[in-house]
Amino acid sequence: MKFLPLWFASLQVGLVLAGPWIQFDAGHIGACGTYISDNDFVIAVDKGAWVGGKYCGRNMSLELGGTVVQGAVLDLCHDCPRYTFAVTPAIWATFQLAPEDIEVTEGSWKYVF
Ligand SMILES: *[C@@H]1O[C@H](CO)[C@@H](O)[C@H](O)[C@H]1NC(C)=O
Repeated sequence: MKFLPLWFASLQVGLVLAGPWIQFDAGHIGACGTYISDNDFVIAVDKGAWVGGKYCGRNMSLELGGTVVQGAVLDLCHDCPRYTFAVTPAIWATFQLAPEDIEVTEGSWKYVF
């Protein structure tokens, strides 16, 4: 797992939260029980957001620099600090973030269904 500190402000139920986004190497069965490949648009949430898998299969919309990408919550990120998401390379690439990109930036997220 590569940790890339990419800070964002998130909005949900009126709360402003902050934490990094990290890129994770897929190619395993996620905590929700389905296989995740690097090409899938998948998000792993931190332990605090996991809630026993309550959001498995739900889509989350991520916004960063005007680009909006949806990904399905299909995994738990054990190593993620609170308010951190790990996203697959497919999502990382859509935001046009280079692997070495450690620039501090802002984005937002919300559940879309
Ligand atoms: C959920 O996200 C995936 C990946 O971006 C997308 O293909 C799919 O259309 C989304 N589902 C809904 C209902 O928006």
